[in-house]
Amino acid sequence: MNKPSYEVSDFGTTKYGEKARKFTLNGAGGVVLEVSDYGGKVVRLFTPDRDGAMKDVVVGFDSPAGWDGGDPYWGCIIGRYGNRIGAGRFTMNGVEYKLPALNNAPAGIGCNLHGGARGWDAYVWGAEPFVNGDDVGVVFTHVSPDGDEGFPGKVEVKVTYTLTKDNVWRVDYEAVPDKETPINMTQHVYFNFKGEAGGTIEDHVMTIAASQVTPTDPGQIPTGEIAKVDGTPFDFRKGMRIGERINEANEQLEIGKGYDHNWVLDEGIMAGGKGGLIYAGGVYCPLNGRNVDVWTTEPCLQVYTANWASYDQTAKGGEHLSFRCGVALETQHAPDSPNKPQWPTTFIKPGQTYRTTTEFRFSAK
Ligand code: BGC
Repeated sequence: MNKPSYEVSDFGTTKYGEKARKFTLNGAGGVVLEVSDYGGKVVRLFTPDRDGAMKDVVVGFDSPAGWDGGDPYWGCIIGRYGNRIGAGRFTMNGVEYKLPALNNAPAGIGCNLHGGARGWDAYVWGAEPFVNGDDVGVVFTHVSPDGDEGFPGKVEVKVTYTLTKDNVWRVDYEAVPDKETPINMTQHVYFNFKGEAGGTIEDHVMTIAASQVTPTDPGQIPTGEIAKVDGTPFDFRKGMRIGERINEANEQLEIGKGYDHNWVLDEGIMAGGKGGLIYAGGVYCPLNGRNVDVWTTEPCLQVYTANWASYDQTAKGGEHLSFRCGVALETQHAPDSPNKPQWPTTFIKPGQTYRTTTEFRFSAK
């Protein structure tokens, strides 16, 4: 076991003119996590393969400029509302709220995505690195004002990244609003266990502990139906190569251009499960044995396989990213929950604290 430690360095200036820093967290178990206070972005993450060789396994960039395009939110903290809100509208306590509806707007089916034009990912947060016993981490804080991107209420947010001696990266989210407001946060890290310029993740084996998904309309808004995965390309319960069925003729796969869907976790409260910290799924690379298991207190998991060919950017090593260069396992409440009163609520009232935890447990096999 190593002694956990951290280093702090400059990370350049964001397009909004804010100075960013980078925190290198050296975990006692060997995993190293480089993150920025710019939206909690993951810059690098080194995990061991089955021979103990370390490699950077996330898509990230060496300076804030890599994120100038915003979308696809490589490795960012997402808020106030992660995922989509249909037409950028919702009604709460009889009042209708209108949010920017920029996503899918050219297709005439715009919606609010990941918090709007400038979500929480695009701010430099307060950041306090720490070593606590065998743990090392950073506490990120941010204040979102009342009316931010059309959302009601000021929200004080705290996100803690902790790297443990067991090579677990834990993300603890806390948010306190002063008015009722929808909150649905996630971490948008993209893994590629061959390295970010290692090509497609279609050869990675994915497991998802879910018997149901929430199919969407062509604008990627859940229709409200909860569909069984049995016999479909969405059945990852026993583990399946991501590419095994991704190109099948299937209406949902056509809408997402691959996997870009929300699974309802069997043990989560939306499926009538026990809730608490539950196993959501994981991804494994048979070539080198690198593996991540995701545990969460959230009821759902959005899996996104970076399906848009316009993700044509230069990676840290100077090589090009490619189609399906990463897979994001986004723990969350279901998309469009503010417009789906029959689903677990995302409305948080004043006096309540939004609190969720997700763990990325790294190993090799
Ligand atoms: C969404 C995708 C989107 C991606 C990047 C994912 O969470 O489900 O549809 O393209 O984020 O913004």
